[in-house]
Amino acid sequence: AKAWTVPMLADAKRDGRKLVMLTAYDASFARTMDAAGIDLVLVGDSLGMVAQGHNSTLPVTVADMVYHTACVARGLAKALLIADLPFQSDATPARALDAATALLQAGAAMVKIEGAAHKLETIRFLVEREIPVCGHLGLTPQSVLRLGGYKVQGRDDAAAARLREDARAVEEAGAQLLVLECVPTPVAAAISADLRIATIGIGAGPACDGQVLVLHDLLGVNSGHRRPKFVKDFLAEGGSVAGAFSAYAEAVRSGAFPDAAHSYD
Ligand code: KIV
Ligand code: NA
Repeated sequence: AKAWTVPMLADAKRDGRKLVMLTAYDASFARTMDAAGIDLVLVGDSLGMVAQGHNSTLPVTVADMVYHTACVARGLAKALLIADLPFQSDATPARALDAATALLQAGAAMVKIEGAAHKLETIRFLVEREIPVCGHLGLTPQSVLRLGGYKVQGRDDAAAARLREDARAVEEAGAQLLVLECVPTPVAAAISADLRIATIGIGAGPACDGQVLVLHDLLGVNSGHRRPKFVKDFLAEGGSVAGAFSAYAEAVRSGAFPDAAHSYD
């Protein structure tokens, strides 16, 4: 298969090919994912929880993200590398430009930004400056203090309508991919139908255009936090780390994962 590029994301959605994404934080896991045919690799700021042992993503710095992005980039040949803009590094367009530039120079092809509202200006600012952007709506872990915990978002009609509006606005601002986290299946389905850009779900049901899981969750490695409903341990059926990545990719592409037991209705 060819190496992934940003314009190929739209082709995949148009052709109805599911996108398979995993998080990675180092070169060796990244290399194994790449060889297993994982399409998109995300250096998530979840590294604050799974690698650094914090209880939120708030302590993660741009320097941390740049370090791990450079590590992961060395392991990839085909997968598209996306890196999170960590807490407050996207608070203003100017700060976001500096952070995103450092991440692209470390090897990322796209940066991910949580939220809409004032972030729309930042998304537009980066896109106009040749920096591809992935949005992230629903449960945005950098909002944990305001939200009061990690909870499903968009449950009532008003919240679902707001989420749909935000998703359209993120696309309108120029994002070329959108992660939906902990969103009821019908809401994520409606958003995926509304948008031309691909949606990537995590706890957002099977109708998204792709799926993402945190590496440690997929391998059943305990991070000290309660295991959310959408998590599935693929190591059990895969038999090895490489087998777990292949089993996950196959389950996403066939539509077998996520099923109702791993989604919110
Ligand atoms: O940080 C992360 O790992 C993420 C994914 C869960 C989407 O943002
Ligand atoms: Na993240």
